[in-house]
Amino acid sequence: MSLLIKNGEIVTASERYVADIFCENETITRIDRNIAPPKGAEVIDAKGKFIFPGFIDPHVHIYLPFMGTFAKDTYETASRAALIGGTTTLIEMCAPSRADDALAGFELWMKQAVGKSACDFTFHMSVTKFDDQTEGQLREIVKRGISSFKVYLAYKGAFGVDDTELYRTLKLAKELGVIVTAHCENETLIAERAKELLAAGKTDSGQHHESRPPQVEAEGVNHLMSFAELTGAATYIVHLSCKEALDRAIAARQRGVRVSIETLIQYLTLDKSYAEKPKSEGMKYVMSPPLRDKRNQEVLWNGLRDGLVQTVATDHCPFDFTTKKKMGKNNFAKIPNGIPSLEDRINLLYTYGVKAGKIDLHTFVNVASTQVAKTFDLFPRKGTIQPGADADLVVFDPDYRGKISAKTHHINVDYSVFEDWKIEGRPSVVTVRGEVAVRDGKFVGKIGRGNFLRRKPSHF
Ligand code: URP
Ligand code: ZN
Repeated sequence: MSLLIKNGEIVTASERYVADIFCENETITRIDRNIAPPKGAEVIDAKGKFIFPGFIDPHVHIYLPFMGTFAKDTYETASRAALIGGTTTLIEMCAPSRADDALAGFELWMKQAVGKSACDFTFHMSVTKFDDQTEGQLREIVKRGISSFKVYLAYKGAFGVDDTELYRTLKLAKELGVIVTAHCENETLIAERAKELLAAGKTDSGQHHESRPPQVEAEGVNHLMSFAELTGAATYIVHLSCKEALDRAIAARQRGVRVSIETLIQYLTLDKSYAEKPKSEGMKYVMSPPLRDKRNQEVLWNGLRDGLVQTVATDHCPFDFTTKKKMGKNNFAKIPNGIPSLEDRINLLYTYGVKAGKIDLHTFVNVASTQVAKTFDLFPRKGTIQPGADADLVVFDPDYRGKISAKTHHINVDYSVFEDWKIEGRPSVVTVRGEVAVRDGKFVGKIGRGNFLRRKPSHF
């Protein structure tokens, strides 16, 4: 199996040049000018197109039992949609509830993915309790190729950990060199404020963000930072949404706390007024932390540009609007949290980030691919274009013009919060380890070709 991509403009986190890329047996073996097509090689002409390293989404939910229901995608639907959108590696949250053991949870999540994904994948292992069994099970999970944990400071009773569990998780992570990703919101404040709002008859989706204002997130960040400082563990704040939380994280980083920061494409493009839309429409926009005042978008774009914020994810959560989100029609606290966006991250980041002049092309590649690979022990196998790297490539057509719609998207969910939004540019060809999986924007890949990526911890 060999593939030659000719005449494209290669863009990595640090370089930009025109060359041909030759791939053999799943990896890039040569990058040069004017490579003559070897016999039997598939040849793709990428003149006028960018070639980016395959994008990595560091935060998705596919199999997700949550808030009394289930998210709807499967690995088959999600990986197909991811590839069409230029994402060639998924990092899913493996999130067993407190009632379940970590190892059984890991095996259950593996079962959802192995043999069913069209693209490569791995997991952040959620630590949702820390009892007598947990430490041994986490050590075993790390041996099986996981190098990142996840903790939730929110969702008490479901995924949330208490302070003892948080401390023990971080201490173990430090010993094992594992990075700990964290959902940072203060659960007590959320519960109290939600109770007050509901008692006052304030039940609609626009109240969700009132129950979780920026101080709630900032407090969660502060909390994690104190624990990280004491244990020395490497941490990664998932879905950071606002200036207040960013300021706390940066202050901690400046005093030596090891912290990386992820934001989401939703926070960069949407604001809380969407969740206030009348007649149930606002429920589509409920996620946690919630969408914020518009002023935060500039803060986050600048954070990406200036290197304060390291990555952009989706936190993809495919809950249908008609049957799932509407469960919270009379009580905002019952709306399944999360906004689906797996397929659109790259096109939105390019259109509303690069084309709008908020970030440059290298930052775009860095925050959506290279830095993710570096943080989560996948680099240089993933996240760059160089000989020896996996041949996950995105041939991106900057001249394409289109619109996002639930009628045409491939994620398995009945709405899009980006309905009718314009996009400028899209992946035309996408490869998975040297095999074409998307051609002319259409999926031509193989379900089951995606591999579980074994990772080795590096954050000692
Ligand atoms: O609203 C969100 N983010 N839903 C998914 C669960 C989580 O908090 O990551
Ligand atoms: Zn979360």
